[in-house]
Amino acid sequence: ATNRTFTMIKPDAVENGHIGGILNMITEAGFKIIALKLTQLTVADAKAFYEVHAARPFYGELVEFMSRGPIVAAILEKENAIADFRTLIGATNPADAAEGTIRKKYATSMGENAVHGSDSDENAGIESAFHFAGREQF
Ligand code: CMP
Repeated sequence: ATNRTFTMIKPDAVENGHIGGILNMITEAGFKIIALKLTQLTVADAKAFYEVHAARPFYGELVEFMSRGPIVAAILEKENAIADFRTLIGATNPADAAEGTIRKKYATSMGENAVHGSDSDENAGIESAFHFAGREQF
């Protein structure tokens, strides 16, 4: 079925000038952009967004990284969007990411891995609502 996923181009990829390259890979792969903006997470926003990882040893580092500069937030639509987008971005650790994936091309490390992709329909809805008002979703 056609469904939606939520993505962020993370601060590392924005700093390194990869917004255009990543959006191009996304649209070339057949995803339709439903919502899109350049924004920045506050420390409180990043803590809330990654609440599920609060007990992990890398949580502090993750919150600091995700709030250090602008990100691009987007909602994407496609047949099988959640799974197909996770395939397109590749493994969390760029050392394990397959050829042709966004992380293989643009990620620098396990923590600074260029892009986010929702892991379920439920989380895509929650994450989309976190970043976008209804009138910003087309
Ligand atoms: P993502 O899967 O999008 O969401 C959770 C993030 O936590 C992950 O991307 C990485 O940015 C980060 N992360 C996961 N594992 C580690 C780790 N071992 N060390 C540092 N950051 C991590």
